[in-house]
Amino acid sequence: MKTFEKFEIKDLILKNRIVMPPMCMYSSDNSGFVKDFHKIHYATRALGGAGLIILEATAVIANGRISNRDLGIWDDGHVEGLKSVVDRIHEFDSKAGIQLAHAGRKSDSGDDYIVAPSPIAHSDRYEVPVELESSDIKDLVGKFKEGSRRALAAGFDAIEIHAAHGYLIHQFLSPITNKRVDQYGGSLENRTRFLKEILGAIKEVWPKEKPIFVRFSATDYKEGGIDENEILAIINEVKEYFDVAHISTGGLLDVPMKVFPGYQLSYAESIKSKCGIPTVAVGLIENFNQIEEALSNNRADLVALGRQLLRDPYTPLRMAYEQDMDVEFPIQYERAFR
Ligand SMILES: Cc1cc2nc3c(=O)[nH]c(=O)nc-3n(C[C@H](O)[C@H](O)[C@H](O)COP(=O)(O)O)c2cc1C
Repeated sequence: MKTFEKFEIKDLILKNRIVMPPMCMYSSDNSGFVKDFHKIHYATRALGGAGLIILEATAVIANGRISNRDLGIWDDGHVEGLKSVVDRIHEFDSKAGIQLAHAGRKSDSGDDYIVAPSPIAHSDRYEVPVELESSDIKDLVGKFKEGSRRALAAGFDAIEIHAAHGYLIHQFLSPITNKRVDQYGGSLENRTRFLKEILGAIKEVWPKEKPIFVRFSATDYKEGGIDENEILAIINEVKEYFDVAHISTGGLLDVPMKVFPGYQLSYAESIKSKCGIPTVAVGLIENFNQIEEALSNNRADLVALGRQLLRDPYTPLRMAYEQDMDVEFPIQYERAFR
């Protein structure tokens, strides 16, 4: 069964193809520090058998938080708590990634000063953002680099850059939110420059043996925004800088999305085959047959289960048991599975 086959990328070896995708838990406080909740929450999903656990969107700068309860990685003081989460994930035989994020115009941390490529508010709920100067952009590139250095110090096996869901990097990528006329706006080459600079800077501190994931929204669900052709072009433009594309959709605008089982899988499939880069598929993939179908038909290399793993952290173990797989169950639970 492909679901329980190993996956190797650079020095990272995953015991199976099931990923826990980043999911904000809004369970820190204004400090951004890891709390007991995070230690238990992530360790439980490791114990439940997921091959890779990617920690929630974690802010590279305090005023780029999605909320004032996000995890933070903007200070060296954050490393110790994050390391304790990583150590527990490793203790329970899984691998740990972390999603580095800046919310841009969707920051809602209580600070009125929010930034974006162009001064266009997301909706009535948000302030009009301040247009970033190119010197501020360089500073933010540095914040992602510093965040990566801290992620390395905390022992993460992989890093994921959040370039999806309408947050800052996505705001640069999409022509709907990026109206700049300098070297960061206009052409595809210019709109991808911020992401390329971030990835280039990260590579100065992040070891070449460890993979870098990037999460993209493959469509903005709106004419004039990112669509399938555009995301293929974007990924082709930046793919030399990273290793795995994690394919989601939406989030740039408050527009309706058509949601059905596996609703984002065709994008992961298209990007995998047309850009020649490994992909993670995600989005209402919840049962074993769906996972196995996606992997066996070569539509994705990994499959992420979000809400399913919130409902039942032991989903991977249960699937292995139901499929009669000869996998290692946690020794304490052996008698339940043999
Ligand atoms: C509570 C919750 C928090 C989320 N937070 C994040 C996040 O921090 N970063 C991110 O890229 N996606 C986030 N997402 C999206 C999930 O990673 C995933 O893509 C989405 O839930 C669809 O997958 P699913 O149908 O398997 O749940 C979140 C989703 C949920 C339900």
